[in-house]
Amino acid sequence: MARRRTFAIISHPDAGKTTLTEKTLLYAGAIELAGAVRGKKAQRHAVSDWMDIERERGISITSAALEFDLFDHRVTLLDTPGHRDFSEDTYRTLLAVDSVVMVIDAAKGIESQTRKLFEVARQRRLPMLTFVNKLDLPARDPLELLDEIERVLGVAAVPMNWPIGTGDRFRGVYDLRRDEVLFYERAGGARPAPVAVASADDPRLAALIGEERRGELLEAVHLLSAAGTRFDREAYLAGRQTAVFFGSALSNFGLETFLAALVDLAPPPQPRASDIGLVDPASTDFSGFIFKIQANMNPRHRDRVAFVRVCSGVLAKDMLVTNARLDAPVRLSRPSRFFGRDRETVESAYPGDVVGLVNPGRFAIGDTLYAGARVKYPRIPHFPAEFFGAMRLRDVKFKQFDEGVRQLEEEGLMQVVFPIYGKREPILGVVGALQFDIVEARMKNEYGVTCQVDKLPHIAARWIANDTGAPLKLPQGVLETVDRDERRVLLFQSEWEMQYTQRENPSLTLLAVA
Ligand code: G4P
Repeated sequence: MARRRTFAIISHPDAGKTTLTEKTLLYAGAIELAGAVRGKKAQRHAVSDWMDIERERGISITSAALEFDLFDHRVTLLDTPGHRDFSEDTYRTLLAVDSVVMVIDAAKGIESQTRKLFEVARQRRLPMLTFVNKLDLPARDPLELLDEIERVLGVAAVPMNWPIGTGDRFRGVYDLRRDEVLFYERAGGARPAPVAVASADDPRLAALIGEERRGELLEAVHLLSAAGTRFDREAYLAGRQTAVFFGSALSNFGLETFLAALVDLAPPPQPRASDIGLVDPASTDFSGFIFKIQANMNPRHRDRVAFVRVCSGVLAKDMLVTNARLDAPVRLSRPSRFFGRDRETVESAYPGDVVGLVNPGRFAIGDTLYAGARVKYPRIPHFPAEFFGAMRLRDVKFKQFDEGVRQLEEEGLMQVVFPIYGKREPILGVVGALQFDIVEARMKNEYGVTCQVDKLPHIAARWIANDTGAPLKLPQGVLETVDRDERRVLLFQSEWEMQYTQRENPSLTLLAVA
């Protein structure tokens, strides 16, 4: 357990998350071919990006768990979609990790998506390392970048190394903890070993990097030691401080130091809050929770996989566990480990590990599984949908249509309600509008069904908490629907409609999530 490191990378699209993932896998020897993770030019498909739509749009929609060994540690990297539309999936993934790595583009700094994802990581108080990427290209002033992290994210930023020049003048980084210069070789080839110096004051530095760069470096180092925050492990582990590494994922520059720091600093599995208090991962009783369900992992097998994060004890093949939500026993007959499209059955898994269970329809997102003492982890909240669309079948495959809608709903890709009056066509509610395209594409690819989602003007859904079934006084635009459990859900076109409904029906309690 102590060797386990389970983390996720968060970034704005294009900052270099895929590149960093691929270079890490190459370094760890988990893949052999550059471009295996994703290269738009090389036309190879991502190990972690395996759906057509992802390839077309160049975004990562599904979060896969990649497991590999690194410096004597067992690392599990959970992929988080970088697109702003997929915050819900990302949110669930961030519940399953012990720390995060934030990648930022050195020329752009903190971007909108970085900020949103950071907020989620902060709510969970996840320790965070920062990789400032693309140092081989023209970049912003490093001090300014640190300042931006502190100002915008409100977390102390502590540099672990310092760039020597940027863009065309980029020469390498100075390791502030080890007093070493790591040279960057533009032409590639053999990577020179780091050169140790006595300190940033060492006169030999002038010969190594030139007088001008030495002057700049010295100035920065003095400034950092006078005004900068010192790295403090406790503060990092509490999420109050982020350790910042400068580098370039594409050219592997600074990667090794970064990965060594990752396994060294990032925490092993941590105790987790539950209904019976904190659960110690070292407890002998197995417990875990399902944070993701994925239909059609392998289109030929048409199966659904529930991903469980092991929180305590040992998960063993063929083990009998209890699903806390159903209070029913489930046998874990074929726990599997996934690596992109490949899978293998595992005999056992430990805290921090993520395994896939072939889902016989008995698992839902947020379910706790346990053996031994009864325990339940908190529910995984739904985000209120902001976009709605009527889903229309364009052929006659009714059965496949129903099945597809049900399974994609189970994955948490969308919420589904049905109008009370008129045709019982499913209405989808999603957090980001791109999800409609994904639903259409997946219905076509995975269920062979042609359908179309027509956008509706509604902006919010409200469940009626205390429904007596009595008729309501509703403004014209409100659509009355029911969810799969036949609970009434009102769809509103504006904030005003919502207020009006509340005013005219004062005894109603409206809830944004089911
Ligand atoms: P993402 O997953 O965060 O969206 O980013 P991704 O790794 O796909 O990187 C986005 C682009 O930035 C890619 O170029 C990638 O090659 C480039 N990149 C990543 N790291 C570095 C770096 O350290 N230096 C430089 N110069 N470029 C970097 P692309 O042309 O969009 O894609 P591709 O054709 O290379 O796949």
